[in-house]
Parts: sequence; structure tokens; C-alpha cells
Amino acid sequence: MKNLNYYLNKARKEGWAIGQFNFSNLETLKAVIGAAKKSKSPVILGTSEGESSFVGLKQAVALVKSYREETGLPLFLNLDHGKSFSYIKEAIDSGYDTVHFDGSGLPLAENIKETVKVLKYAKKFKVFVEGEVGVIGQASESKETLTDVAEALEFARKTGVDRLAVSIGSVHGIEKGGINPGLNLERLAKIRKALKDIPLVLHGGSGTPEEDVRKAIRIGMAKVNINTELRMAYTENLRASLDEKKDENTPYKYMSKAIEAVQRIVEGKIKLFSSDNKI
Ligand code: G3H
Ligand code: ZN
Repeated sequence: MKNLNYYLNKARKEGWAIGQFNFSNLETLKAVIGAAKKSKSPVILGTSEGESSFVGLKQAVALVKSYREETGLPLFLNLDHGKSFSYIKEAIDSGYDTVHFDGSGLPLAENIKETVKVLKYAKKFKVFVEGEVGVIGQASESKETLTDVAEALEFARKTGVDRLAVSIGSVHGIEKGGINPGLNLERLAKIRKALKDIPLVLHGGSGTPEEDVRKAIRIGMAKVNINTELRMAYTENLRASLDEKKDENTPYKYMSKAIEAVQRIVEGKIKLFSSDNKI
């Protein structure tokens, strides 16, 4: 199997993107794998610190490994928004393929220093590292700071990260009114031009206007992260199934609707990112 950097660089050159889909239970993971299989798409399975603590780091590794062996698909497991070196080290020791160190809340020099520390450790195990510069906000809060081009350039040069998450106006989650802000594509174009080859990552993919996502990928986003839309589809459909089947207590009998709903969303995102038929 080709490694993640191969696919990210191919995506960047050819103008498509790989989706990262987060999971915290077997049903969501099954749905993502189902979509990847149907669409013949490489995918990244993401788990945040909270999600991976719930599933178990070793268990997440074992699950993804078993699906990879069974399907032969390029499936990569990423620790998403790792905030501490010790947790990232645990993920690497457990067998994660790649990690995201989120030092965006630190002053730039500190972020660089900590990212280099993660890179040094990750390299020993051939684990790829995503860095982050600029603060990506949360829906219904106004705490984001767009990525500064000069800072992104300094960060990329001094760390040598495999890929870089940048803040260009997307937010984590979905705004109360259901409409998320559009992207600052001008800022993205400037970052892309300054950083040349490094694959860029769009966080907060849920609820972002589709046309903006398409344009951002054309400009140079090679990875797009999706979480909230999957959580919402799962929860809403599970709730509806439980309401419909009040006397049913066999989980696999009331779970199918939720799995299908998540799979449909992932299939749609794969189409939007044009990562179908890329394996
Ligand atoms: O790191 C994870 C993502 O950025 C997910 O963001 O929940 O808005 O899709 P989202
Ligand atoms: Zn994120």
C-alpha cells in the first residue's frame, strides 16, 4: 500500500482532496469504510483525544488494521488535534499511522519547538505529522485568527511538517442558524503561493458552503476534515429508529438506519472532494 504522503501529494498535484472522517464507535467506522469501498477512495480515519480515549488507542489501531487487511483499501488512522506530547507519543506507540499536533494556541516559537519534538519522535516510527498555524474557531464563538502567511512560511521551514492545517475562516461544528461562514480564499491563495509544495489541510469541513470547499481544493487544500455532520446524522437517525421501534432491543436491528445515513454523507463528501476512484 502506498503511504499517506503519496496520496496527499498526488491529491495536491491533481486538484482533489482526501477526506478525514472522525469516528468514536464501530457504527460510524463501518459507515466510513462502506463509503470508501463503494467509492474506491483513500480515506483518513480521525480520532480526537476524546474520541480515541473512548474507543481506546490500541483498539482504534486494531479496528482500522483489520478493515485495511479485509478491503485492501488505503485507510490511514490519524490522531486529530493532539494537544500534548505525552498523548501523541501514546498514539504513536499504539500504532497510529499519522498524528496532528495542534499547537495553534501557543506562541509561534513554542508551537515550532513542540512540533519539532513531535516530528523527531514520529520519524523513528515512520509516522507522518500535521502541524497547525492560526486558530480555527468553534461555531457560535468568535475566537478564530486567520493564518498569517509569513508565520505559516516560517513554521513550515523551521519544522518540515508533512502537512499544514491553516485557518481560513472555517469553524469547528455548525453554527446555530445552520449556515457556516464562507472561506477566505484570497488568504488561502496567498498561503498556497508562499508555501509551494506542502499539502494544506482544511479543518471544520462540516457546514462549509460546498462551492467554497470545491474552490479551496482547486487552490490547494489536499485534506478536508469532517466530523460534526457525521455525528449529527448518526444521532438523529438513531433517535428516529429508537422512536420507531419502541419494542426493539437488539442493537444491530435498530442501528442500520444510522449507519446508512452516515455512509450517505461520507459518499457525498468523497464526491465533493473528488477522491473517488483514486486508489
Ligand atoms: O478536526 C476535525 C475537524 O476539523 C472537524 O470539523 O466537526 O466542523 O466537521 P467539523
Ligand atoms: Zn479540526
